[in-house]
Amino acid sequence: MTRKIWVFDTTLRDGEQVPGAKLNLYEKLEVARQLKKLQVDIIEAGFPASSIGDFNAVKEIATNVGNTDDIIITALARAVKADIDSVYNSVKYAEKPLIHMVLGTSDIHVEKKFGKSKNQILDIGVEAVKYAKTLLPDVQYSTEDASRSDFEYLWTTIEAVVKAGATIINVPDTVGYAVPEEFGELIFKLNDRLKNLNDQVLLSVHCHNDLGMATSNTLAAIKNGADKVECTINGIGERAGNAALEEVVMALNTRQAFYNVHTNINTKEIMNTSKLVSSLMGLDVQVNKAITGDNAFAHSSGIHQDGLLKSRDAYEIISPTEVGLSDMELVLTARSGRHAVKNALEKLGFNQLTDPQFEDIFAGFLELADVKKEVYNHDLYVIVENYYSKHDMNNQDIKYYSDNFYELMDLQVISNTIFPSASVKIKKGNQIYKSSTVGSGPIDALYSSIKEIIDLDIKLLEYKISSVSRGKKALGKVKLQVEYNGEKYIAKATDTDVIKASALAYINAVNSIVVENLIPV
Ligand code: KIV
Ligand code: ZN
Repeated sequence: MTRKIWVFDTTLRDGEQVPGAKLNLYEKLEVARQLKKLQVDIIEAGFPASSIGDFNAVKEIATNVGNTDDIIITALARAVKADIDSVYNSVKYAEKPLIHMVLGTSDIHVEKKFGKSKNQILDIGVEAVKYAKTLLPDVQYSTEDASRSDFEYLWTTIEAVVKAGATIINVPDTVGYAVPEEFGELIFKLNDRLKNLNDQVLLSVHCHNDLGMATSNTLAAIKNGADKVECTINGIGERAGNAALEEVVMALNTRQAFYNVHTNINTKEIMNTSKLVSSLMGLDVQVNKAITGDNAFAHSSGIHQDGLLKSRDAYEIISPTEVGLSDMELVLTARSGRHAVKNALEKLGFNQLTDPQFEDIFAGFLELADVKKEVYNHDLYVIVENYYSKHDMNNQDIKYYSDNFYELMDLQVISNTIFPSASVKIKKGNQIYKSSTVGSGPIDALYSSIKEIIDLDIKLLEYKISSVSRGKKALGKVKLQVEYNGEKYIAKATDTDVIKASALAYINAVNSIVVENLIPV
């Protein structure tokens, strides 16, 4: 059996310190419930002494999420009685409560932040642990700024607080200053002494990402004996953030033979958790972010798509399904090569194309890809249909398909505070449809108008707008996710007019649903 690594999630405490990311009580509860599904071992639910709102949120999470013995609920205190009482009084409702306290050990913190001597700070820490132990058996002590502390003073502190009853020692790289080799060595030395002192005490690390090394430092610590890691979802947190839970966990899983450890995380819940945190906190995930970025499993270069189609392991080290995605995404763009386009056509049933036919269709594909950026399955039908009509060929099957796709012809959207409204003109086959509706906002009005025409029971799950270029002619990109019949569909569109991009993205999603649900002829 491999060594277990405890996963402590601090999205609701360190993560919530991000400016503008504050959540209300119900949102915090929703995130905590999702973290439980993800099977983290410990949730740090907040900093209850900071406000009554935070206190109540921690208490609700302890009561409603910490009501089983498979999860520990904690919250942060400074090493002062009032903070410790606040933590105790909010986490005590959990089946397994833990008090977490923090006090600095570096010269900078001891002398400049507190203006005290090292002995005075040591005594404060020991007294705080002794007090916390009168309330609960489980107490975590964080030696803030540990990576910039004098080693012997750091160890003297750890030894003293363990003797006072601390059950977890957390070693933070508070300002993201550490480098993996050095941090690994620090953890090795501390672990060696700690396990000789008391082998029941867990050694934990908490790394910040100021130099982009939070994940590497966390992994180096694990390799050198750390038992527990503190992370956040999507790596959010103070300044440049914390070690990203999904990166640490997936590195341990993917390089199992190297690390020889395991966690209890249900990796299939990673994407759901990432999306929930991102949307509730309003913090976008960088598109190329490892594991949870939009492009983490999307392959667009022709060379890569060709390699993947020959053998997935050529360019894929993690199956997207392991983190809860449906499958790898081969995005058809102007850079996709013939192999990827041929493969997409074959999947749609066009597997009898001769070489000259395919070349002609491929040329049509390139032309459209230059204009549209990303080409969808329904676009491929239209390209094939164009090919047939150009060559005076009559294929009823293709016509049947392309007659069912929707095309935006025109739109008008009015934004105001009383009646935001939209009108759309949409073509389907030879038919032209028009609709006008009022909504709660311009996009709601626009989507209601489109929905009135297409008449499918579609639920909009996610709508994201971003700019992909700069200046007056900046392109707006809209990405959305919809649900139809329990299936999720993602679609995108770009245009200088973001309202038009919103309409096109929605229609792309509708056409993807149509492709999947049409009865083959
Ligand atoms: O970064 C830090 O040192 C912290 C502690 C409270 C663990 O967040
Ligand atoms: Zn921190």
